[in-house]
Amino acid sequence: MAEHAVLRIRDVSKQFPGVKALSHVSMEVEKGEVRALMGENGAGKSTLIKILTGIYQFEEGEIEFDGKRVHPKSAIEMQRLGVSTIYQEINLIPYLSVAENIYIGKEPIKHGRIDWEQVKKGAEEALRDLGISIDVTQKINQLSTALQQMAAIARALQTDAKLFIMDEATSSLDKRETQRLFDVIRNLKERGIAVIFVSHRMDELFQICDSVTILKDGELAGTYKMAEINHHTLVSKMIGRDAAEIIGQRKQYRTDWEQKPVMCEVKNIRKKTRLNGVNLKIRQGEIVGLAGLLGSGRTELAKIIFGEDTAYEGEVLIDGEKVHLPSVRKSIERGIVYCPEDRKTEGVFLGMSVEDNLTISVLRSLLRGGFVQTKKKKAIVEEYIQKINIKTPSGSTAVRSLSGGNQQKVILARWLAGKPRLIILDEPTRGIDVGAKAEIEKLIQQLAREGISVLYISSEIEELVRGCDRIAVLREGSVFGELFGEEITSDNLLHMIAGEDTAKTGGE
Ligand SMILES: Nc1ncnc2c1ncn2[C@@H]1O[C@H](COP(=O)(O)OP(=O)(O)OP(=O)(O)O)[C@@H](O)[C@H]1O
Ligand SMILES: [Mg+2]
Repeated sequence: MAEHAVLRIRDVSKQFPGVKALSHVSMEVEKGEVRALMGENGAGKSTLIKILTGIYQFEEGEIEFDGKRVHPKSAIEMQRLGVSTIYQEINLIPYLSVAENIYIGKEPIKHGRIDWEQVKKGAEEALRDLGISIDVTQKINQLSTALQQMAAIARALQTDAKLFIMDEATSSLDKRETQRLFDVIRNLKERGIAVIFVSHRMDELFQICDSVTILKDGELAGTYKMAEINHHTLVSKMIGRDAAEIIGQRKQYRTDWEQKPVMCEVKNIRKKTRLNGVNLKIRQGEIVGLAGLLGSGRTELAKIIFGEDTAYEGEVLIDGEKVHLPSVRKSIERGIVYCPEDRKTEGVFLGMSVEDNLTISVLRSLLRGGFVQTKKKKAIVEEYIQKINIKTPSGSTAVRSLSGGNQQKVILARWLAGKPRLIILDEPTRGIDVGAKAEIEKLIQQLAREGISVLYISSEIEELVRGCDRIAVLREGSVFGELFGEEITSDNLLHMIAGEDTAKTGGE
């Protein structure tokens, strides 16, 4: 067996100031094997990957790649040896075109010059293989997060690698896009190429992976064949206790929301080609899910309600009153907040501390006589670090040094701490581990019971089904249908997203 190994890691350790990120981790990956790497937020997955790709140096242990001992010192070195990586933080260059991003560092040369024609054609093909046809000459930052992720995938696939590493490459993709990627992975596998796959979506691991290595607080918690472990055991190993309490509870449907006042209503919202006549009501204390495929207009609608996008036709009403001259400031004053899907560009201040990031939205309420009440501020920070289990050495740690999932938790906490009246959550649990996800879902339920309205955008069917009082499905820019109470099941929702209205026609 071992002679087929493409990668061997032995006893690797890594220390950051105040954090032992990895402690004596060993694993072997064979040619053609798809290995899941899993663990809670902050368990050490991305650190291990960055060690493998030469971004971080390790203190102890050894790594063998393709039969040779390596001590990677730079990302370029490992790329040359045949490791292609899609990092958790998509690292595209915003002011370059899609095509340039896909070919960066490996532009085809013709007659001593970059062959732009080939760059364009190649990029188009690479994306087409992933089921995407877009104008590759547009700037990359004009694409949605999901499409940027697809471009990052296309770029990684443009290399002749022996090992592909995908650190949460599917986190902003929906089911359809993910399946495309899985087809590609199956193809790599057939060609004997190994894949290390990180995802917090359990169903994906069971679909595509042969085996799984679990990290717990930087230590190896075991490696198993997928076929010999079930969901429950896997999650239990990952969190270090029995998973029964966090797997698959469905919340109680609320029946009283119909009597509650309408907090927010949108009427016949239109926006160019993207939205064509959306109608939706969100009542006080109601959790309304917004489902749909990529590009169905969910984020566009969210930004309109939040007052960030003002170029639309139709009406937004708050407490029954039409919003004139919408703006973000006005929305926030009215108690509407938006937790965006793209945390890197819209959410978090990486250089600032956890504390400052978390309390930015409540700063004003913390002022007394022009001074920030430090004690009160610290109390809020402590409360949320506890409540949703943010893994950080302290409140004063820079957000930059937290793991991806923990950064996401900081942003979420920021908006929750502001005690809004309507909170729009755009993929709030992206990149968040199953345990923490359960905590966050619980917190959202609690807020709703306190009267806060929630608009919940998610590509994760199960999450919507578990948590929403009502789910509206967007399709091609308008509300295709809605599910209430007992109608809310994964099957019904999946059918509706795909465009079949089973809830009305009745299933067989
Ligand atoms: N550059 C850094 N400086 C200091 N500490 C770091 C740095 N990078 C990671 N850490 C710490 O190392 C630990 C492991 O983080 P890592 O990013 O590897 O987790 P992860 O398993 O990828 O989590 P996630 O699921 O949230 O992405 C965390 O405690 C994190 O705070
Ligand atoms: Mg990570």
